[in-house]
Order: sequence, then structure tokens, then C-alpha cells
Amino acid sequence: MKRFEDKIAFVTGASRGIGKAIAKRFASEGAKIALISNHEDDLNETEKEFGALGYGVLSILADVSNANHVERAVEYTVSKWGRIDILANNAGIAWEEDFLELKDENWRKMLDVNLNGMFYTAQRVSRQMVKQGEGAIINMASTNGLVGEVRFAHYNASKGGVVLLTKTMALELGKYNIRVNSVCPGYIRTPMSEAIDDEEFVQEYVRTKISIGRVGQPQDVAGVFAFLASDDAAFITGTEIVVDGGQLAQ
Ligand SMILES: NC(=O)c1ccc[n+]([C@@H]2O[C@H](COP(=O)([O-])OP(=O)(O)OC[C@H]3O[C@@H](n4cnc5c(N)ncnc54)[C@H](O)[C@@H]3O)[C@@H](O)[C@H]2O)c1
Repeated sequence: MKRFEDKIAFVTGASRGIGKAIAKRFASEGAKIALISNHEDDLNETEKEFGALGYGVLSILADVSNANHVERAVEYTVSKWGRIDILANNAGIAWEEDFLELKDENWRKMLDVNLNGMFYTAQRVSRQMVKQGEGAIINMASTNGLVGEVRFAHYNASKGGVVLLTKTMALELGKYNIRVNSVCPGYIRTPMSEAIDDEEFVQEYVRTKISIGRVGQPQDVAGVFAFLASDDAAFITGTEIVVDGGQLAQ
């Protein structure tokens, strides 16, 4: 018996990077997956790849910063599969910008996806889980939700918001048997971080900041999502797990 046999997982930002690894991990352990992304080509590619592996998938093109898109995605998943057991609320964006130069529209864009999108998805999926009387929600935060980083004020604010959104959701939803936790990765090599940093920067970063001596891989984070969604985490709610190779230990 696989750990997530008969479970339905709703994974946002599932078309590449960490979200794709999370979706793959749940699928390889028996879950059926709703793959949500705003990137049509990547989504089609991922759907094809997962289909070839024999995974049960629905792929849904949606922008999480649009509450109507999120509602339709949730309704579609429930109409096809009847329920949602696990939410991996992962979709997010990041780029660097000096605080003093940061334009209002860029600040709003960051919060629209990373915090508003997280809220729309968490709330709409929670309402379904309340009807079911159970569920597990894992929100993607970051070490940048726990400590600051130069040139990431907008990103840090969004991820700090996710950490506390998670705690309050856990307080309000415990009585419905819904657990809510967040995951705070450090440096994970994905298309997002590759777009921000060159190889030289990464080597120096690893040498000076990461105790384990390497960058993280998407699978390092996917396993933690699977743990938090599993029965092994039955008494864990309202907290965050840091996955950073020891970076925040100093
Ligand atoms: N890579 C890292 O080092 C790192 C560290 C900590 C936290 N995170 C967080 O992990 C999550 C995934 O990051 P990643 O590195 O895999 O990024 P990525 O850019 O490689 O992938 C992001 C995914 O989210 C989707 N997405 C983006 N905006 C969306 C929107 N508005 N609606 C729907 N889908 C959208 C993209 O299509 C893509 O599938 C993000 O929330 C990010 O902030 C990443």
C-alpha cells in the first residue's frame, strides 16, 4: 500500500521547479494530482511526462493571483475526483530589487502572487476540506519569511506573511481536522534561482553560508511536503520546517 493511495493532491506552481518535484513525489506514492500553473507550455510538458509514468493527473491552467481562476480550479478538481485531501500551496515568484527603488506596482505584483494567491488557494481549498472533515495544507514560505535579505524586501514581506497566515489558519481549522504547516526552504536550485544567480555567486554562497556544503535540490523540499501531508505528521500543525542545509543555524 502506497502512502497516498486514494488521496487527491492539489499542487500549485506544479509545472516546473519545486512544485513539479512535489507533484511527482505525491504521484509516485499513489496520489492523484491536480497540476496547477500559469505556464501553458511547461504544464503541457509536465502533464505529458507524468502521463507517460502512469500517474493520474489533471492539468489546470490558472493564475493563483486571480481568485476566480482559483475557484474554478478547485471546483473542476472536485467535480472530477470528489475531494481534495492535500494542498501543496507552492506557486510563487521572486526577483531582486533595491528597497529604495522598488516601484509600487512591483511591490503589488509580488504580494498578489506570493501572498494573495496563497490566501485565495488556501481559503478555497479549506472550504472544501471543511466539508470533508479532514485535510492537510502545506504553504510554501522560505527562509526569507524568517530572516531578512538585502534586495528582497518585497519577497521577504510576502513570505513572512505566509508563515503567519499558516499559523492562524492552523488555529482556526484544527477543529475541522485540517492541519496547516509551512515549509521554509533555503537555497534550492530551480529555474527561479538560476534566473537570479550565476554559478560563481552560487559557489561562494554555498562556501560561506550552507553547512551541508551544497545547494538544495527540489527533491529535498518535496520529501518534507510528503512528510507533512502524511499520517506521521498527524500531531503537527501551525509550524514551519526549515530546509536549508544549516544556513539559518548561524
Ligand atoms: N528556489 C528557491 O531557492 C526557493 C527557496 C525558498 C522558497 N522558494 C519558493 O518555492 C516556490 C517554488 O519556487 P521554484 O524555485 O520552484 O520556482 P520556479 O519559478 O522554478 O517555479 C514556479 C512555479 O510557479 C508557477 N507560477 C508562478 N506564478 C504563478 C501564478 N501567478 N499562478 C500560477 N502558477 C504560478 C510557475 O508557472 C512555475 O510552475 C515559490 O513559492 C518560491 O518562492 C523557492
